[in-house]
Amino acid sequence: MNIDLSGKTALVTGSTQGIGLAIAEQLARSGARVAVNGRTPARVDEAVAKLGDFDVLGVAADVSTEEGTADLLRALPAVDILVNNLGIFGAVPPLEITDEQWRTYFDVNVLASVRLIRSYLPGMTERGWGRAIQIASDSAIVTPAEMIHYGVSKTALLAVSRGFAKEAAGTGVTVNSVIAGPTHTAGVEDFVYQLVDKSLPWDEAQREFMIKHRPQSLIQRLIEPEEIANMVAYLASPLASATTGGALRVDGGYVDSILP
Ligand SMILES: NC(=O)c1ccc[n+]([C@@H]2O[C@H](COP(=O)([O-])OP(=O)(O)OC[C@H]3O[C@@H](n4cnc5c(N)ncnc54)[C@H](OP(=O)(O)O)[C@@H]3O)[C@@H](O)[C@H]2O)c1
Repeated sequence: MNIDLSGKTALVTGSTQGIGLAIAEQLARSGARVAVNGRTPARVDEAVAKLGDFDVLGVAADVSTEEGTADLLRALPAVDILVNNLGIFGAVPPLEITDEQWRTYFDVNVLASVRLIRSYLPGMTERGWGRAIQIASDSAIVTPAEMIHYGVSKTALLAVSRGFAKEAAGTGVTVNSVIAGPTHTAGVEDFVYQLVDKSLPWDEAQREFMIKHRPQSLIQRLIEPEEIANMVAYLASPLASATTGGALRVDGGYVDSILP
């Protein structure tokens, strides 16, 4: 199979590092013109420089706010591929999650994606082709007790994808979510070393972490960001034309269920 995104413009939100940066790189490698996004111009410039060999532009904007989204839409009025990757997470004991934290998680993890889908979907349907892909999490299905607010926001994102896929029915535009499992990003590396012997080399450290703390994983290692990006590139491509309204797992078998 040849994933060819030439002629397509893509936006990946929250893509100055981690999974978002890997997705931006894979889409660009596949021929798309890619907009990299983060809140600060310096970090966006740094990410654009890292992807220097490709057709990449940077748009600094806080897409969790209406004003930031308006700035982004001015810089990038139309895209063919929208990847709503931005998401925040953090542990808080269930009874201590404040109203403000609930609202923040809704604003950043759900409403920011809804606003961008609402803004870009009409152009995609008019042109008869488009992709909206939301990055969800295993926490969407297995609600973590230590971050209910995060889990709820990701469950909502699955419903957002399903609902907008119905809105786009029959237009050539597909809307899906990707259920990412525990992934090797900078923040997660620090987290692993908080829980296992700091002198262990990375491969052993992550193996011990997975066996002791994430025994449900069938691959028994963290997922590499590129592995999430591969699924996103496929979904973004014309090859995935019959996949819409779904949630696809790149979770290393973490969720102990046959479906979705
Ligand atoms: N890591 C995992 O194990 C894992 C597992 C399952 C699902 N996921 C999901 O995968 C996605 C990416 O996770 P990650 O771990 O790669 O994230 P990350 O390393 O924390 O990166 C977050 C990115 O978002 C940007 N950002 C933060 N707030 C923003 C805002 N308001 N507007 C625009 N950009 C913003 C950051 O850039 P600046 O700081 O430059 O703004 C950064 O590029 C999230 O949706 C997460 O829920 C992650």
